[in-house]
Amino acid sequence: MARRKKIYEGKAKTLYEGPEPGTLVQYFKDDATAFNAEKRDVIEGKGVLNNRLSEYFMTGLAQIGVPTHFLKRLNMREQLIRAVEIIPLEVIVRNYAAGSMAKRLGLDEGTVLPRPIVEFSYKNDDLGDPLVPEEYIIAFGWASQQDLDDMVALALRVNDFMSGVMYGVGIKLIDFKIEIGRLYDGDFQRLVVADEISPDSCRLWDIETGEKLDKDVFRRDLGSLTDAYTEVATRLGVMPQNVTPVTKPTLIN
Ligand code: TMP
Ligand code: ASP
Repeated sequence: MARRKKIYEGKAKTLYEGPEPGTLVQYFKDDATAFNAEKRDVIEGKGVLNNRLSEYFMTGLAQIGVPTHFLKRLNMREQLIRAVEIIPLEVIVRNYAAGSMAKRLGLDEGTVLPRPIVEFSYKNDDLGDPLVPEEYIIAFGWASQQDLDDMVALALRVNDFMSGVMYGVGIKLIDFKIEIGRLYDGDFQRLVVADEISPDSCRLWDIETGEKLDKDVFRRDLGSLTDAYTEVATRLGVMPQNVTPVTKPTLIN
């Protein structure tokens, strides 16, 4: 079988050429990184869980009219997506103070914010994805004012959807990050939710106990990341079968 063409390899996912023009195959790896890849590990089954969870969230978003890059899940680790031009910004929505915001402002993690706050980081690993004001985004041409308004509207719709879905299974959506891509249709462009939505890119706390069910478990060494993500998938009813192989293949000499 011909080897397919790798288009891009990131920290947690690899993109391959898709079967038709304008499509890509997004492969979810088991690699986990934090603090700009200073901390790294392989968490068996993470890619399978994130593939399923991202499918679940992207499909739900499409059902309420929020456009995404997602087309269909192909198998345990891969999904077919539309090729989009990724805007080089991480769009972060926060409902409660946590992580870098809590640190920057000296707030206790879990402090409820007066309203959802949308912020942008410039996607650049060498610089550690610095927080940037909207002024920079316009001035450096990363996005137009119209794009920014559309991105904020999109991010807030994702926030309402994700908050509701999570609340329904006893989980508080503390914050999340999305990436947004441009899809061209003749002279027109449309902004769509791209990349992934998974516990890698959200903060999710159990409503009752405050237990963390997201990548902070890995960042802060709080226990088993697979158990946390499996808990989220089980509550949502999207628990995949055979996340980890029962027996590992062994080499026979
Ligand atoms: P932060 O509090 O560290 O700025 O993170 C805000 C949200 O963005 C949180 O839900 C985790 C997510 N996030 C990513 O998805 N990727 C990243 O590289 C970082 C730093 C955060
Ligand atoms: N995605 C980021 C990295 O590797 C960090 C994070 O999610 O905390 O480095």
